[in-house]
Amino acid sequence: MTQKHVLLPVPDAAVRDGANSRKVFIKTYGCQMNVYDSGRMADALARDGYQPTEDMQEADLVLLNTCHIREKAAEKVYSALGRLRDMKKQRAAEGREFMIGVTGCVAQAEGEEILRRAPSVDVVVGPQTYHRLPEALRRAKGGERVVETDYAIEDKFEYLPDTDKAKIRARGVTAFLTVQEGCDKFCTFCVVPYTRGSEVSRPVSQIVDEAMKLVDGGVREITLLGQNVNAWHGAGPKGEEWSLGDLLYRLAAIPGLARLRYTTSHPRDMDDRLIEAHRDLRTLMPYLHLPVQSGSDRILKAMNRRHTAAEYLSLIERIRSMRPDIAMSGDFIVGFPGETDADFEDTLRVVEAVRYAQAFSFKYSTRPGTPGAELDDQVPEAVKAERLERLQALLLKQQHEFAESCVGKVIDLLLEKPGRMPGQLIGRSPWLQSVNVDAKTSRIGDIISVRITGTGPNSLFAEVA
Ligand code: SAH
Ligand code: SF4
Ligand code: F3S
Repeated sequence: MTQKHVLLPVPDAAVRDGANSRKVFIKTYGCQMNVYDSGRMADALARDGYQPTEDMQEADLVLLNTCHIREKAAEKVYSALGRLRDMKKQRAAEGREFMIGVTGCVAQAEGEEILRRAPSVDVVVGPQTYHRLPEALRRAKGGERVVETDYAIEDKFEYLPDTDKAKIRARGVTAFLTVQEGCDKFCTFCVVPYTRGSEVSRPVSQIVDEAMKLVDGGVREITLLGQNVNAWHGAGPKGEEWSLGDLLYRLAAIPGLARLRYTTSHPRDMDDRLIEAHRDLRTLMPYLHLPVQSGSDRILKAMNRRHTAAEYLSLIERIRSMRPDIAMSGDFIVGFPGETDADFEDTLRVVEAVRYAQAFSFKYSTRPGTPGAELDDQVPEAVKAERLERLQALLLKQQHEFAESCVGKVIDLLLEKPGRMPGQLIGRSPWLQSVNVDAKTSRIGDIISVRITGTGPNSLFAEVA
């Protein structure tokens, strides 16, 4: 249910003119959803007179937008907070204000504990309540240490996106748009259902409206985001149930929107409508991030993924029969409790069968509070390390093979930013590869036809076709 709130006040003239302007530095960890959230926090704070800065030294407020997915990610936050504590002391000696906030998934998971471990932190705000950040900061200025990690009853999306064209343009020609949040899947290794809460889909009208404003501001490519993006569902114009496929058809009709992507998908929610969208929509890029995590049915079951390796492979076959040029991407975890050599070999077999263009792989990290943490039979670190090395070598080989297979092809390139050399621009291929091209007469935001001429370690080279 949505409870209406008064919009935040427009800053007064002095603040707008910069006479009283304060600066915020936001450090983003974790996934694209955090990148999107950082943008919305910057929007909310701008209405309160904070200008974003890339230089921490000139900041009056530092926000760490954190990730809790693996132990390392969470620990990074505490080491950053240690450095910030020293900065705060120095500022205090100079008589200058300096505030520290922790937002995102560590904030949600640890709440009060952060204040205990890091006494210099002023505010802790979870991902469902970041729209309350300006208010939390006002309270903190009054001497309170604020923790806001309740699930808000009001809809944070209702008053966040900044539709100022100049600001949208300044952020570039590609944009993220969160359409779904949270997760009800409860994979036994994962913290997301606890940090982001249960699955919520944004309504169609809100999404279409935000997409149109982005396009109006010069955005050419939109990536729809969700922890479980293909579980998105909503009501169509006649009240009929829409799935992500339907939403993509609707968004593809927005004039000026050249490219659509979405991430991250779960194999169980890859329905026919979504696969048809890949067949029918030229706007929908032929790239799919579809994590499998493991190739062993036994481990998949223990992970609560609720599908088998064979089901995953036949799903990909079906998708490829509809969109033969689709590039596959995935996530893998090695060393889940109980994983044997034979289980790991099953994972390698799935990788061999799929031929990934891109992939991300991790050692299993025990997360307190998840069912996986309770399991016996944890895999020794050295075994995890050895498996990860083998898996990554295979994935890297496939990534190079995919890049090599592009050489000689003529493809569309969306130009995103200047390259290192004068006259050089960097763009993205339909398959999300970074491509360098000499294109003196083209501009950022153009989609041009190029011929791939070679491959580098992390990018491709091309000439105008
Ligand atoms: N919703 C997505 C994944 C989101 S988390 C999905 O269902 O696939 C991003 C990735 O982090 C996961 O795909 C997984 O590979 C990795 N990950 C999540 N929890 C992890 C853990 N405890 N240890 C190691 N990797 C983990
Ligand atoms: Fe985590 Fe599984 Fe949900 Fe993905 S589907 S966010 S891995 S619980
Ligand atoms: Fe990390 Fe939270 Fe994203 S745990 S991966 S920032 S949803």
